Amino acid sequence: MPRYAHITGWGHALPEHVLTNKDLENMVDTSDEWIVTRTGIRERRIAAPDQTTASLAADAATEALKVAGVKPTDVDLIIVATSSPEHIFPATAAIVQDMLGATHAGAFDLSAACTGFIFALNMAAQAIRTGSIDTAVVIGAETLSRIVNWQDRNTCILFGDGAGAFVLQGSEEPGGVMHAVMHADGSGADVLSIPAGGSKIPTSADTVAHGLHYVHMEGRPVFRFATRVMAEATREVLAKANLTPDDVDLIIPHQANIRILEVAARNLKLPMERFMVNLDRYGNTSTASIPIATVEAVAQGRLRRGDKVVLVGFGGGLTYGALLAEWTGPFPDHPEVNPERYRLWARVRSTGLRLKRKVLAHTSREENLGG
Ligand code: UT7
Repeated sequence: MPRYAHITGWGHALPEHVLTNKDLENMVDTSDEWIVTRTGIRERRIAAPDQTTASLAADAATEALKVAGVKPTDVDLIIVATSSPEHIFPATAAIVQDMLGATHAGAFDLSAACTGFIFALNMAAQAIRTGSIDTAVVIGAETLSRIVNWQDRNTCILFGDGAGAFVLQGSEEPGGVMHAVMHADGSGADVLSIPAGGSKIPTSADTVAHGLHYVHMEGRPVFRFATRVMAEATREVLAKANLTPDDVDLIIPHQANIRILEVAARNLKLPMERFMVNLDRYGNTSTASIPIATVEAVAQGRLRRGDKVVLVGFGGGLTYGALLAEWTGPFPDHPEVNPERYRLWARVRSTGLRLKRKVLAHTSREENLGG
């Protein structure tokens, strides 16, 4: 029986503190008018001193697990996609695993800048489809305010903090994550990076004096790259399912710049209404932007069971990718919606898993015996 990976839970965590374009006017040589016309961004959230990438990630994951009706101890795998990890190592995902009490989960970070959430979702879905795991939590989380230079008007006006998470669960019911495409062009690695603090240029008094521990970006080449690949990746993933842009109910893009999204919409010959946009309120939260936008799309009633949704993004690396999913929602009955049926379903499911394990054990014994 083929297995499918369904998105059954979602959650987000957004810091309370709002930094407006007006606030930025007092920090760097910029204006609300410049930021709004060039980017579409009006405000962004900034993490409180006691909030970190891991704490935001854990808060988003807790919300997602609640929506799915899944206990932390039932999670097999946690992937945190981030460009602002707590440390170079250990992985932020391991810290999140402990915060959640997900005692049976493996955990690792995935670094693909703003495209990270799409890559992580695809990896988790593949692991579920092969039968190697049953339940995964995929998180995009950032505290970019800690790694941008607040004196650099080219970057500090763009970014914000936040986290978003999905729960993925396996089932034999068709649907869920259908196809994905993942791409990278490392020849553009220099145009968006944190130059120092890694093993190539370790942190020193000199690197700090030159601000090489902050995000550095050449905006124009990234903009040109983004306007090319957003439509390209969307078409490519749809072609895998023999679909066209018209077949898609909602596109949830990486929230970087409204002008990039308008070009993508034009290239795909779709109206902007088909795109989920919330960058005006949160700025660019890098790999957290797609799951945060998804949570808001659900809250606004823009995603219903059976809808076809494309997640598409680009970012440092340079990386880009797209993922096509059929929206599911909590399955088959959420414990709070229908506790009786949920208990019955949970019993049937755990019996099914026990049987599956028995069959697998039997098959491998036969193989070992040369049967
Ligand atoms: O997740 C991926 C992350 N990166 C991106 O998505 C970035 C993609 N790139 C962009 O979104 C755009 O390139 C930016 C929004 C970053 C910049 O917009 P732009 O239209 O490409 O502006 P520009 O860099 O060409 O700069 C135009 C002018 C320059 O002045 P001069 O040389 O024409 O006198 C800049 O110095 O605007 C100036 N400028 C600013 N002025 C006011 C640059 N930043 C600012 C600012 N406020 N914050």
